[in-house]
Amino acid sequence: MPKFADSDSMLSTDDPENWSSYISDFRRAGHETVDWIANYLATVRDMPVLASTAPGQLFDSLPSEAPNQGEPFEAILRDFDRLVMPAVTQWNHPRFFAYFACTGSTPAILGEMLAAALNTNGLHWKTSPAVAELEQRTLDWIRQWLGLPEGWMGIVYDTASTSSMHAIVCAREMVAPEVRTEGSRGDLVLYTSDQSHSSIEKGAIAVGIGQNNVRKVPSDANFRMNAEVLAQLVAEDKSAGKRPFCVVATIGTTSSTSVDPLPEIAAIAEKHGLWLHVDAAYAGAAAMLPEHRDILGGAERAHSLVFNAHKWLLTPIDLSAFFTRRPDILRRAFALTPEYLKTQEDPRAHNLMDYGVPLGHRFRALKLWFVLRYFGRDRIQAMLRRHIQWAQDLAALISSDPQRTFEIVAPVPFSVVCFRYQGTDDQNRAILERVNQSGRVFLSSTVLNRQTVLRLAIGNLATTWDDVQEAWQLLKKAAAEL
Ligand SMILES: Cc1ncc(COP(=O)(O)O)c(C=O)c1O
Repeated sequence: MPKFADSDSMLSTDDPENWSSYISDFRRAGHETVDWIANYLATVRDMPVLASTAPGQLFDSLPSEAPNQGEPFEAILRDFDRLVMPAVTQWNHPRFFAYFACTGSTPAILGEMLAAALNTNGLHWKTSPAVAELEQRTLDWIRQWLGLPEGWMGIVYDTASTSSMHAIVCAREMVAPEVRTEGSRGDLVLYTSDQSHSSIEKGAIAVGIGQNNVRKVPSDANFRMNAEVLAQLVAEDKSAGKRPFCVVATIGTTSSTSVDPLPEIAAIAEKHGLWLHVDAAYAGAAAMLPEHRDILGGAERAHSLVFNAHKWLLTPIDLSAFFTRRPDILRRAFALTPEYLKTQEDPRAHNLMDYGVPLGHRFRALKLWFVLRYFGRDRIQAMLRRHIQWAQDLAALISSDPQRTFEIVAPVPFSVVCFRYQGTDDQNRAILERVNQSGRVFLSSTVLNRQTVLRLAIGNLATTWDDVQEAWQLLKKAAAEL
């Protein structure tokens, strides 16, 4: 594990009259920190993926009160090594195969650092034209790569959960605009598949739609929303006096990465006047490949779409890109300008605070701009292709294993493989526990068809085919040792 130098230095001053001492202190510690990051990224594959601490251990090791006197960087960095690092689960590890694996890439790290240095806040255009316009341009590049129509507006929020919650508010604003002033009567109904991410239901809860008004449309044998049942449910709700207002389709569901039938869902949404939101948080990246572009076929008929750069696009958490073809409705839903925030109106000056809950707007797009420029489309496509290929190769290894110990339980359209040991749920959980305890890999599990299923998600830039094979060997060994 990389270590910060074990040296002592004097506490610097932050006296504005002696500013240069404060800056030179930062310069020295900053160089050292960048060196630490480089060593970390060079050696992270040799570290255990999972944190080695017991619950409460880090908390108990930290002083119960904040320091009265400031401390030198050296002391803080030493404690970072000694206390914090053992409690870190290494999401940047090439054998992190849990959830949706991702990468905090080097250009993004520098972009994040510069954003913090500038500490600029794009709440409205004037408070930082750079935040508004770089974000607008960068998201328009992403829009083009996703093949979304020209004219869709993009805005950056923190997470897909936030993006989808904003989509639900837009849907409400489109279908029931009176709710903004009067509150909900509890008759609005949202539809999403039984495989959709919990953030959709949570969004509906947060917005006051009510959990009972979220219809979980059953999915088919391949975990895709059953559009015929969706149509039936909407019709039933309408005849019962309810107001269907929103349908959320998922392109790349969390458990199995299944793809909902967007064109059929879009037709139902259009027939009944529902807002159609597309959750492409993970798999949207695959649409950047011409051979997978069709997964977003029909998205042009949607009203909004979320795509997370912090999943499969080399960007450290957090950066969620929300796109909508109805920015007018997004603005109508959220604009509320007190006197102290009034500013000049200009059609080209975007006031980001009008387009969502948060007032403050972090310069997140800076790290994405660094990523897109540093890697370019070709290298990004190459990474996506190799991850998709390795998922196929792993699925082939699992299916062709002569011992037939494991079986593939879902189609593998992207970089996630869902499989299970041909035994009990307890045995599958025991295998998972054993391979994760090795420290060499980290996989997660889910439930499909009421059975515990293991998931291996490829998504880190540093991952090699050997890393994937190592996971497979560990799984076979753990199964043999049951
Ligand atoms: C399909 C899908 N949507 C939304 C989310 C939520 O993402 P976030 O953590 O950015 O809120 C996830 C998380 O894995 C996801 O898989």
